[in-house]
Amino acid sequence: MMGDIEKGRGQGGEVENMIRGDLFRLKAYQPITPPDVLSERAGIPIEGVIKLDGNENPYGCSPRVGRALAGYPFYHIYPDPEQRELRKKLAGYVGVDASHIVAGAGSDELIDLVLRLFLEPGDGVINCVPTFGMYPFCTEICGGEVIDVPRDEYFAIDIAGIKEAINEKTKVIFIASPNNPTGNTTTQRDIMELVKLGKVLVIDEAYYEFSGTTVAPLVPEHENLIVLRSFSKWAGLAGLRIGYGIFSTLVAEQLIKIKQPYNINLAAQVAFQESLDDIEYLKGTVQKIISERVRLTQKLGELKFLKPFPSQANFILCSVVTGDAQVIHEGLNKRGIFIRYFDTPLLRNSIRISVGKPEHTDALIEALKEMC
Ligand SMILES: Cc1ncc(COP(=O)(O)O)c(C=O)c1O
Repeated sequence: MMGDIEKGRGQGGEVENMIRGDLFRLKAYQPITPPDVLSERAGIPIEGVIKLDGNENPYGCSPRVGRALAGYPFYHIYPDPEQRELRKKLAGYVGVDASHIVAGAGSDELIDLVLRLFLEPGDGVINCVPTFGMYPFCTEICGGEVIDVPRDEYFAIDIAGIKEAINEKTKVIFIASPNNPTGNTTTQRDIMELVKLGKVLVIDEAYYEFSGTTVAPLVPEHENLIVLRSFSKWAGLAGLRIGYGIFSTLVAEQLIKIKQPYNINLAAQVAFQESLDDIEYLKGTVQKIISERVRLTQKLGELKFLKPFPSQANFILCSVVTGDAQVIHEGLNKRGIFIRYFDTPLLRNSIRISVGKPEHTDALIEALKEMC
């Protein structure tokens, strides 16, 4: 009984007391808010909402996706648990054999699956903060222990710090490259230095198509190296949930074994196939976002109260040099422009802005000028 009170339970009944104590105490993940809720909160029609808070693709997905989904005749059949077509097609895109690939319902599912595969309660996971919140969230759900190793002032990972933090309980190291929310990449040299440590090294390349840098071709030579990718950002399929990972064949086989058999639904599979068949169109929208990233960075830099950090992704982190990030966030919300703000010990007084269309940049800059 005493133990339960220590675990932070209320005066709950029998069912509450049966919930795992660590999960009962777990802080909820902070997901993004959907556009209809944002529109209602701001009192602005949904068409007027400028959503720059989720690193989503402002151009949407390939126009072929909607047409293919409307005409697909086999939704009554279960999808292929072994993901044969998906893996074959991804193999062509990535340039490794299909036996190295496993697809997930977003790369989020693969983060979870990797941790389920490797972690036993109490095992350690190195988290190079500030970074993506799913790594600690999924680690804690698996009963693992998160070990934070802060990045330096330019958000580069601290290799010496990682080496120092590692012990016999450490199983996994996560590095997002480009990193969310900071936008910088980690060099191949640094990644290779970490591979040598022998722990499971996950390089999360959710924003790869915007950075053009990858270590995916190195995976077949290194059993402990994992690369995760997503169709949410570059291909505009965040709402259909499709991501994939590149693994050693050993790890891929184990993940195929432990995943939910039908984890990729047929709508996601159809959308994925159409996306790869329309890759030139998608490369065009990626290019537009990259060009707009340059323009947005420059415009933000011209505002003397913000300091934008260079980004290789589809978002830009800014330090608020004078003023208050939360006030900026709220002021923009009222005008129907939604961004993220951070004020944590690791990321003081900062905002993160997803790269939108040129007209979104113009509206944002105008609103920022008006407010400050
Ligand atoms: C670094 C990073 N990894 C993974 C994801 C999750 O992507 P997905 O939509 O494929 O689950 C995100 C989403 O924001 C991210 O920023």
